[in-house]
Amino acid sequence: MARILPIPDPATLGLAIQALRRGEAVAIPTETVYGLAADATNAAAIASIYEAKGRPRFNPLISHVSGIEMAKAHVQFSPLAEKLAEAFWPGALTLVLPLSQTSGIHPLATAGLPTAAVRMPEGFARDLIAAFGQPLAAPSANRSGRVSPTSARHVMEDLSERIGLILDGGSCRIGVESTILAVEDGGLRLLRPGGIPVEAIEEITGRPVERHASLSGETLIAPGMLVSHYAPDAKVRLNVTDVRPGEILIRFGGAPVEGEDKAVAIMDLSPSGDLREAAANLFDYFKRADASGASAIAVAPIPAHSLGEAINDRLTRAAAPRD
Ligand code: TXA
Ligand code: MG
Repeated sequence: MARILPIPDPATLGLAIQALRRGEAVAIPTETVYGLAADATNAAAIASIYEAKGRPRFNPLISHVSGIEMAKAHVQFSPLAEKLAEAFWPGALTLVLPLSQTSGIHPLATAGLPTAAVRMPEGFARDLIAAFGQPLAAPSANRSGRVSPTSARHVMEDLSERIGLILDGGSCRIGVESTILAVEDGGLRLLRPGGIPVEAIEEITGRPVERHASLSGETLIAPGMLVSHYAPDAKVRLNVTDVRPGEILIRFGGAPVEGEDKAVAIMDLSPSGDLREAAANLFDYFKRADASGASAIAVAPIPAHSLGEAINDRLTRAAAPRD
């Protein structure tokens, strides 16, 4: 049974560092979602992440750093990559960059690729990495294929029997995973929409971001990105204009949906139509919809711009046929 430790407690950091030094995986809050973190330079520690998550195979993980200097010890920054890190770190932008010759990130964390995904989180996670002194590999702290956790309670529901320590920092501010961007000679390629809107990246760099053709959901968009993912237990129906009896409704912007009086319950991602609020609520609403015992989750259309791109990506995956 996992122990939950509160973040403001001064003893928490020390206990977390000890566990990480022993090669254990520790659940930590970040501004995006809770991560299951372990020493990115230690093969056994990384293996314990895969084991706890029950990931069917070794997928590349994001290595979290406390600053650009730590990142530079492991990956190579082009001027464009540097500009992006300066603009968005700490924050919800993950950069896929070429590994440096001397990188200590273990091949289990990169799945043997010549590149690594790196991100500098904000707040406690960053302090923890700085104190630990090495990058932390951290996928979302959920069992493989399930909804990402945005609270310590969500982590507990999924992993309490599989890990020793959960650090409780409250609800995640952003609520969807980071945007993953490959920075290449030819330009910028979006591997996963997330907490930093593509529009913001294009504005800072003055360059277009290429969206992978299969972002629409037919094939893998990046190694390890399964189409069916972020899946609640209940079936998910998207872009609904009517509600069927027994369904639970997730709507947006206070807009009523035909037949919503037949819904088991109605949840609004953001009554005022704020996409940031909607992103922060999304995974928690999936969890609550599941707990309601509804036959299916009916989701009204959500705008596609800005954070709506990440929200629609997660919805599409949640609705994809399960394997
Ligand atoms: O917000 C987030 O990014 C959260 C929090 C905990 O920071 N982390 C997260 O990590 O979502 P993870 O491991 O679930 O996402 C890793 C994804 C992989 O599925 C893969 O698609 C991509 O990042 N990735 C990692 N390394 C890569 C690489 N070298 N090349 C291309 N894609 C890579
Ligand atoms: Mg995940």
